[in-house]
Amino acid sequence: MAFCFNFDIPLQTEETNDKESKDDKAKDVHLKCSEASATFSKKIKDAVEHQLLLDPLSHIENWVPETITIGALPPLLCLNESVFEKTAPEREDSEEILAKTLTQKSDLISGVYEGGLKIWECTYDLLEYIDDAGETFAGKRVLDLGCGAGLLGILALKRGATKVDFQDYNSTVIEQLTMPNVFLSCEEDNENEEENSSPPSKRKSLNVSKKLLDHCGFFSGDWKSFLILMQNKTPSPKYDIIFTSETIYNTDYYSSLHNVFCDLLAENGIVYLSTKSHYFGVGGGLHLFEKFVEQNNVFQIRYLKDVEQGLKRHVVSLKFRK
Ligand SMILES: C[S@@+](CC[C@H](N)C(=O)[O-])C[C@H]1O[C@@H](n2cnc3c(N)ncnc32)[C@H](O)[C@@H]1O
Repeated sequence: MAFCFNFDIPLQTEETNDKESKDDKAKDVHLKCSEASATFSKKIKDAVEHQLLLDPLSHIENWVPETITIGALPPLLCLNESVFEKTAPEREDSEEILAKTLTQKSDLISGVYEGGLKIWECTYDLLEYIDDAGETFAGKRVLDLGCGAGLLGILALKRGATKVDFQDYNSTVIEQLTMPNVFLSCEEDNENEEENSSPPSKRKSLNVSKKLLDHCGFFSGDWKSFLILMQNKTPSPKYDIIFTSETIYNTDYYSSLHNVFCDLLAENGIVYLSTKSHYFGVGGGLHLFEKFVEQNNVFQIRYLKDVEQGLKRHVVSLKFRK
């Protein structure tokens, strides 16, 4: 997607003094935030569980599929970002984020739109890490937290996770991007299965939807509210794996993010977090998040992968301290 990563608000200086950050700033990514994002909106979105649309792709006109292939991972299908962006103005969304992101040319409008319409680069880092580590998901319950396009959760689903819940701040992202992407990938799996079945099923969409109903959950809203929603379920879910990519850019959200980890991760579960070292323009980054985690003394952080090109990026894991 052609959203560029650029910033046009004053930098928060707490982290930018160190040399590494200055070098990175000169080299790489800039975060484009609208004026609105300078003052963080206090109004947050209540969490909602989304019912699966029978055929989510039928609600999107002019979509084009794209295949993402990483190493030996199964190919991941998703909507092509630039076509999705071009056709965005033709679609309706009650949150009006499709129009806002285009007119304000923003990757983030804090409290309004949190960046889920594009695939951020640390998602690819985490996929590459999973490929290298040979992680499988059979029998696992997985949460893709701040999922956006949902590639991490889709991979888990394709590799045999029993249940994958997808969460994004924006309902538009969940309904117009995550659900169609999950549907597209499952449809492909279904077609492969049906090639060998005789006679082939004529109820393709129904079959796919049923599979998704059994294996996926879709949620939108703020993490604070999402946690309450999940805790009110009986039984409240505990995840073996929580994926979260590019979600620690805003220090204001650290406490609600950390609470989700504390309360929804299974005792022996693992959080895979991929992130840039620093997010210019919004102020968060791995150093500050690590400090926050250490102060809380609940989780142990381990560095799993460092990417040195341009702005430094990392994949880390969090596990409960024993
Ligand atoms: C920068 S996007 C990254 C999207 C995706 N994980 C990726 O790597 O492509 C950040 C994601 O975190 C979610 N997010 C950020 N702050 C949130 C909050 N306070 N409550 C709920 N979700 C939030 C947004 O929905 C968004 O999808």
